[in-house]
Amino acid sequence: MTATPDQLAHRIGAPRLDIDPFSDDFLNNPYPYHEEIREAGPVVWLSPYGIWAVGRHEHVRAGLNDWQNFISSAGVGLANFRTEKPFRPPSLILEADPPQHTRSRTVLARILSPKMMQQVRDAFAEQAELLIDRLVEKGEIDAVKELAEVYPLKVFPDALGLADEGRENLLLYGNMVFNAFGPRNHIFQEAVTRYEPVREWIMNKCQREELRPGGFGDLIYQAADAGEITYDEAPMLVRSFLSAGVDTTVNGLGNAIFCLANHPEQYDKLVATPALARAAFEEALRYESSVQTFFRTVNQSLEFAGVSMQENDKVLFFLAAANRDPRQWKDPEVFDIERRPVGHMAFGSGIHGCVGQVVARLEGELILDALARKVKRIELIGQPVRRLNNTLRALDSLPVRFIPH
Ligand code: HEM
Repeated sequence: MTATPDQLAHRIGAPRLDIDPFSDDFLNNPYPYHEEIREAGPVVWLSPYGIWAVGRHEHVRAGLNDWQNFISSAGVGLANFRTEKPFRPPSLILEADPPQHTRSRTVLARILSPKMMQQVRDAFAEQAELLIDRLVEKGEIDAVKELAEVYPLKVFPDALGLADEGRENLLLYGNMVFNAFGPRNHIFQEAVTRYEPVREWIMNKCQREELRPGGFGDLIYQAADAGEITYDEAPMLVRSFLSAGVDTTVNGLGNAIFCLANHPEQYDKLVATPALARAAFEEALRYESSVQTFFRTVNQSLEFAGVSMQENDKVLFFLAAANRDPRQWKDPEVFDIERRPVGHMAFGSGIHGCVGQVVARLEGELILDALARKVKRIELIGQPVRRLNNTLRALDSLPVRFIPH
């Protein structure tokens, strides 16, 4: 009789935990569970789904950098595309391996280069100033609904070349895509129900005629004109920008303001030295990682951290757990904007490491810099409300008061 995966894990001595990383309880407060996973061993078996989990920094990094063994083309969520139908046509970059991945990545990386960021920087900075001025005048605001959602929805689609109308649909799309990396639980079902009415709008926005000439979206089509990618691939790569470029930064910004509101002594440091804005955003990404996890699939049987894994096993890499691993970080539970957390996993690592991180960092820096110069104190004036998501660490609402200088 062949052993079930559960028996096998037991036999080879890997720790087994009865933890559901997609339960409401886990997603509301993942940190105690991250610790349990990290401390149980470098690789543990999560019985509820029959998957491996990796939470230590060293091993998350090693796994993500081994793209030949831990592949993305079978999906970076719980579903295995080798045996299950993907819920949407797979991404040509995120859910691809070389050589397809290299082709797509070369084009997107050129469009999102540091040089290109210099070109959009002034426009992004102007919008950050305008927005924070407006919010300071208002005083009491919801920092998620009126800041973290508003800013990326303005600057990123502007740079992409999308018209103004209907941009809030991008939030529903991102929310659905990131939920779809988990199981078909109630959180996913609710996200799909909210997304259905805007599905057509999203797919339509990937077409060339919807994109302003010279914007990031049009540049993808120009790569098709140049023969680097096909005309069939171009809208799929625009789709990658639409799905990965908004909800991630919305939550990156929301989480950063949440951290600063909860640690007034750190916010004081930022006010004293606004040049710490970039470092503060980086530390917030480590401390409250907006993307918490990504899966890989084992390409063929292998040994990893002393554990035997079988072809097609799914492995869940906990970026957020690695970002608080005491083996890597001194006092990982301390939020310290002067830490400079080089090597954090919030943007992933290896060939799939976030291609949009220059955009995210620019947005984070400009917003925190404007806040530091215009707002003396951030006061929490109500209970923050979480938005549960199978992949993202997200807030639905963050009521604060901005006290101006
Ligand atoms: C704070 C904001 C962001 C976070 C935390 C974040 C996080 C990540 C992570 C962890 C990955 C790795 C996926 C993997 O290993 O499977 C990734 C990939 C990616 N990100 Fe981001 N991201 C952010 C913002 C952005 C933005 C603004 C864009 C677009 C402009 C973007 C576009 C992408 C794309 C296209 C990929 C796939 C790259 C590849 O597979 O080679 N991301 N991101």
